[in-house]
Parts: sequence; C-alpha cells; structure tokens
Amino acid sequence: MDKKILYQGAEAIITLEKPDKKNDYNKSKLKNNSKTNKILQSEPNSESVNNSSESNFASELGWVGGQTNNERNCDQDKIIKKSRIKKSYRIPELDEKIRKLRTRSEAKNIERASKVINVPKIIKIDEQKKEIFMEFIEGKKLSEHLNELKNKNQVAEKIGESVAKLHDINIIHGDLTTSNMILSENKIFLIDFGLSFHSTKIEDKAVDIHLFKQALESKHYRYYDKLYKSFIEGYKKSKNSKETLKRLEKVEERGRYKH
Ligand SMILES: Nc1ncnc2c1ncn2[C@@H]1O[C@H](COP(=O)(O)OP(=O)(O)O)[C@@H](O)[C@H]1O
Ligand SMILES: [Mg+2]
Repeated sequence: MDKKILYQGAEAIITLEKPDKKNDYNKSKLKNNSKTNKILQSEPNSESVNNSSESNFASELGWVGGQTNNERNCDQDKIIKKSRIKKSYRIPELDEKIRKLRTRSEAKNIERASKVINVPKIIKIDEQKKEIFMEFIEGKKLSEHLNELKNKNQVAEKIGESVAKLHDINIIHGDLTTSNMILSENKIFLIDFGLSFHSTKIEDKAVDIHLFKQALESKHYRYYDKLYKSFIEGYKKSKNSKETLKRLEKVEERGRYKH
C-alpha cells in the first residue's frame, strides 16, 4: 500500500505519499538511506500519526514530526496529498464546483504566499480529483505546542509578522488558527489555505485577525493576553496596520452587539 492517512477532517483528508518510481517527485535514494533506517529503529513516531501501521509508514519515510534530529537526512522528499472530501448534503454539481474551486484557490494562494512567507511547496495539483500534492512540513503544530514553548511570545510575534506580510500582498487566510501553523526550525509555516482569498479590503483583513484572536482566546486562554499583544506587535509591520487595527475594533463591537 502506498498511501496512509495522516489526518481526516470534515473538509479534507491528508495522506502521506510514499515517493515511488512512477512519480516525478521521486527521490530514489530513500531506499538505501542508512541514516533514515537508523532513525527508523530509534525515533518515536509522529504524534499526529496515531495508528501503528500509519506510524510505521511515517517513520519508514523518516517523517518524525515534532522531533529534530541533526542526523536526519532532510533533503529527501516528504510529500502529502490533500484531497477534498465530497459533501453528500450538497447538490453534486455544486459540490464538484466548490471543491474544484477551493483546490485551485488553495494552491494558487499558497504559491502567491510563498513569495513572502513560509508555506509548503506545491508539488502538483489535480483539479479533477481535487487533490494537492505538497511538501510535508515537519515540526510542531502550534495548536498542540504553543502553550509549552519557552519563547511562545516571540513565536506569536512572528505569526503577526507573517500575517502582516500576507495581508500586504492582499491574501486573506480565512482560517487563522494555531492548527494551521507549524513551527519548523524556528520558522513559522502557515498551512491550510482552503478558505483563503484575494482582497484589498481592510474589513477582510480585520476579520482575519479577529478570527485569530478568537482562536488564541479559546485554545491558549492561559497565555492569551501576552500572546495577543505580541501578535499585534508583529502585525504592526503591515503597511496598513493602523487602519486595519482600527477596523478590528469595529468588527469586535459588532460581535459584542450580536451576543
Ligand atoms: N504541508 C503540511 N505539512 C505538515 N502537516 C500538514 C500539512 N498540511 C496539512 N497538514 C496536517 O494535516 C492537518 C489538516 O490539514 P489542513 O490543510 O489544515 O486541512 P483542513 O482544511 O481539514 O483543516 C493539519 O492540521 C496538519 O496537522
Ligand atoms: Mg486546517
């Protein structure tokens, strides 16, 4: 079997893709890589890969998320496939359209974002199958690890800087939560651009920040005040930060009124 499930959510299923000879992204040296084999015997498995055959598969590739190991051979390809799940409650034609559109816009916006921030490399996309093949980012998913990091405020500031850069090229992420952020070798990677879109509107940027603020409040409430402050410090690097943060106040007022 060539594919194993890494994650299954409501929208998408993520599988680890084992490089094989037929694929253009294959790196044939994998098989005889003694360093990888060494890790195979000694490393714990990725925490996000939680069934044993999946774990074996992950470590077979030398994918050991959350761990850094200098011995690891890092130049081999590590690929995942993100496939969009069919929604049976939607009219089939509409479902087909939505999934195709999201696949296309996700890949496009990741490509655009790659010019200014760290994102996974896109390897190929198959619009027909609604699949994106991309680089697997090995590291710490922030939803699970941010709270325990010693330098969490610094990390939050870096997130702010990344979001500022993204907004400055008019990309709205659309789902800014810490589950869509991976800390890898001290760099923040943003993933999951499935709800992202292009917009020059201050309102859209403010709402993007509002969503992140809510995510921090719910998942990282103990450290929320400092984390949010640091995030905003980072975000101030955006050329329109003043205007956007002013608008954020309005967005929040509306939220309060609603509740
Ligand atoms: N490029 C990647 N590198 C490493 N892990 C990834 C990558 N893409 C997705 N994942 C993992 O799969 C999970 C779900 O992927 P995501 O793109 O966020 O889909 P969803 O839209 O279902 O949230 C992520 O939270 C992350 O754990
Ligand atoms: Mg996600």
